[in-house]
Amino acid sequence: MALEQTLSIIKPDAVKRDLIGRILARFEAEGFRIVAAKMLHLSEAQAQGFYAEHEGKAFFAGLVDYMTSAPIMVTVLEKENAIGDYRTLIGATNPEEAAPGTIRRDFALSKTQNSVHGSDGPSSAEREIAYFFAESEICPRD
Ligand code: TYD
Ligand code: MG
Repeated sequence: MALEQTLSIIKPDAVKRDLIGRILARFEAEGFRIVAAKMLHLSEAQAQGFYAEHEGKAFFAGLVDYMTSAPIMVTVLEKENAIGDYRTLIGATNPEEAAPGTIRRDFALSKTQNSVHGSDGPSSAEREIAYFFAESEICPRD
């Protein structure tokens, strides 16, 4: 199987509770290699653009408010089958429905404040990685 890259966000609720290190350690323990990383505080326009696929939905305004409420940590993770395996590692969107042992089950506060984001397929991974990182900021290793 080929190496894949996926876009991960440690969201405001987790950053505010000082969970960055614990969550990054989970990524590495599960075989994901961090090949790019940055911390930033999203503007309203940046959050709206990132979640453009959800524009018009009832939860959109609340999602944008939440995503701009504190800094986030964005990383590119690399692994074989990274996109699917990362979605498995984080668990279902709603932490009450997330499987035991998943990051959302262990850390998330609610369906909106659900601690982490992960790309849901190859085309969204490509778009989301490019949304935050220039090619020169991504550092794959052997
Ligand atoms: P979605 O892409 O459906 O979930 P996921 O993050 O698992 O890919 O939704 C994006 C985010 O929007 C989700 O992480 C949290 C928020 N959201 C809500 O606040 N309420 C909702 O009912 C849904 C579906 C999502
Ligand atoms: Mg999604």
